[in-house]
Amino acid sequence: MRTTPRCYSTRSSPLPPESQRPGPGPDHVDDRVLAPRVAAVVPAAGQGMRLAAGMPKAFVPLRGRSLLWHCVQGLLASERVEVVVVAVGAQHHDRARAAVAEVGARVRIVTGGAHRCDSVRAALHTVPDAEVVLVHDAARCLTPVSVIQAVVEAVLAGQRAVVPVLTVVDTIKQVDPDGRVVGTLDRAALRVVQTPQGFAGDLLRRAHRLPSGPVTDDAGLVEALGVTVTTLPGHPHAFKITTPFDLAVAEMVAGGRAAGQA
Ligand code: CTP
Ligand code: MG
Repeated sequence: MRTTPRCYSTRSSPLPPESQRPGPGPDHVDDRVLAPRVAAVVPAAGQGMRLAAGMPKAFVPLRGRSLLWHCVQGLLASERVEVVVVAVGAQHHDRARAAVAEVGARVRIVTGGAHRCDSVRAALHTVPDAEVVLVHDAARCLTPVSVIQAVVEAVLAGQRAVVPVLTVVDTIKQVDPDGRVVGTLDRAALRVVQTPQGFAGDLLRRAHRLPSGPVTDDAGLVEALGVTVTTLPGHPHAFKITTPFDLAVAEMVAGGRAAGQA
């Protein structure tokens, strides 16, 4: 029998901006770091086969910094995420640590797995008490801070599973294995899904305990539990860097941002 998931409490209120919180000294490891209320899990253990840059995608440079650095920096700049847990290949811990050295105290590095969901699960284990968990692809490293903030705030306000989405601009056809068109989907009912995806921590942990087939996002696991996933507006800059073309686009976006144009 399916058990009803424990309802996420709505008593929580958004965290005040970092600048308004009492500040411990620089060497003090505070409770938010040891037992974060809001944590982000970053699967970064992929090979980057389609990008084919000769190194795992997370370490590919974008305007002189790794994609991983951009990703972690954006999460922490949101001032909503207390700890970031990054999953990388077992042999890449030192490289990952170096990539995020400037923001190190709030970043943990763990070993990912063979599939994205294994990497997420490994990272999730290290934040067993977090009330809110974001899952954010390292490959979506230019996601605007405003999207990250909106996802955290939606979960703190009581949504248990939230995904940023875009409408579909292309016509989408369904084809058979031979490439023959069998139908045209109603694009008005379709959405492109991005990250960070935000969850009540207990719900995401339960979803990851289920045996599952290959899923490409965490909301898919939550859907399998019969729990409603809600959407909020994503952003074009939250696109996933997958191919060399995407990396070229990312260079332009990051360049525009550095020049204050975006
Ligand atoms: N990922 C992961 N562990 C895996 C596979 C993927 O943590 N075993 C991460 C990637 O590092 C990436 C995100 O999941 O941040 C989305 O995956 P994708 O874009 O497919 O990245 P790669 O798997 O690295 O790329 P490719 O499929 O082209 O090899
Ligand atoms: Mg992949």
